[in-house]
Amino acid sequence: MSKSASNQTAAKEKVVLAYSGGLDTSVCVKWLQEEKNLDVVAVLGNVGQEHDGLEKIKEKACSLGVVACEVVDMEEEFCQDYLTCAIAANAMYENKYPLLSALSRPLISAHLVAAAHKHGATCVAHGCTGKGNDQVRFETSILALDPSLKVIAPVREWDLGMRPDEIAYAKKHGVPVGASIEKPYSIDDNLWGRAIEAGVLEDPWAEPPADIWTMTVAPEDAPDVPTYTVIGFEGGVPVSLDGEQLPMAELIGKLNKIAGENGYGRIDMIENRYVGLKSRECYEVPAGLALINAHKALEDLTLERSVLHYKLELEQAWADLVYNGQWFSPLKQAFDAFMAQTQQHVTGEVKLKFYKGSCVVVGRKSAVSLYDLNLATYDNDEAFDQNDAKGFINIQALSLKTWAIKQGVAGKAAAAPAEHAPASVPAPVAGLIHAAAR
Ligand code: ARG
Repeated sequence: MSKSASNQTAAKEKVVLAYSGGLDTSVCVKWLQEEKNLDVVAVLGNVGQEHDGLEKIKEKACSLGVVACEVVDMEEEFCQDYLTCAIAANAMYENKYPLLSALSRPLISAHLVAAAHKHGATCVAHGCTGKGNDQVRFETSILALDPSLKVIAPVREWDLGMRPDEIAYAKKHGVPVGASIEKPYSIDDNLWGRAIEAGVLEDPWAEPPADIWTMTVAPEDAPDVPTYTVIGFEGGVPVSLDGEQLPMAELIGKLNKIAGENGYGRIDMIENRYVGLKSRECYEVPAGLALINAHKALEDLTLERSVLHYKLELEQAWADLVYNGQWFSPLKQAFDAFMAQTQQHVTGEVKLKFYKGSCVVVGRKSAVSLYDLNLATYDNDEAFDQNDAKGFINIQALSLKTWAIKQGVAGKAAAAPAEHAPASVPAPVAGLIHAAAR
């Protein structure tokens, strides 16, 4: 047998590819087959994204010659194991971005690894570019779950830099190109929301065109009357909407509609990617933002002060970790244990008012509320003895009083010249420095 014939008959190695049905991952299938001589197993996950039929996408994968295509419904798991944690942590990267893509990547990665084990694959591949965060999340998650797997990132590796080259490669290898050519944006979406980037959005001064939004109406087109909605939480988990108990996926779906119809849930921001560059990102996260808003309001009522304050710091750290792809790290696990402990009593209801792009908490109640009317009211002095406040203030101010006396502060405050600011500083800045020094 000649050398080339024996090559053809030897079993090829397998690669599991995260497949979406789009142009990039379709070209990935061909590229992995042609350039890497691998058999491709496609994994197509349902995380609640918009699609026109998973079966159709599976057919497309099969038409590209994959040896297997696994369609995996991940929505329930996404809710139970990912969104529940994100809500508990009020997950918001840079105080603005509710992490939707960052949350789905570790979940998809876990299923890629499972498929690799099932099919005896040695490699796992994804369709992310080398400029974004998603490559970091996929690869870090995959390697954390099975360090023996090899990861391939075709889009990062291939020589098809520009879109036209990729389309030419697609056409040459019989990959249907269809509507992909006209798509001016890069979109990632799931049950938690949509991320829209690239195209005209790369100019941070350009207002996002109306056609990027699909889950929300423009606030100015929203109804002229507000919509009230009550969210019920049990142990930090949203369980009901307007009194109706619902599975989380359904609750999020319904709330996406209510919030979206009222023009609520749009984000337009400049974001610091983990790979070191700033990018302009637009998001639609109607239910996600509303749920975090409501959840925080219930925590205000039910968490003991020092727990609440400490948790605020850990929330930032949690969001950074997850943004940076550390979902399966021991630190993230430890944070989750803390978060879970805090959620035990986050049970109750929150009333939201949606109106023309806003979502305001207008009521909250809980059977385990720490709000005590007897303590808070100015009408009753029995529970809180105001005279106790005097000694409390004297003691807590003692250190500061001592410091002030030694500094001779009383004389200095009256003079207050602008001499602290260097002469070269513009007037408004000098004002700031002066104010800080006072
Ligand atoms: N910037 C966001 C993140 O890093 C969204 C990424 C979305 N991906 C995409 N292909 N559009 O989480």
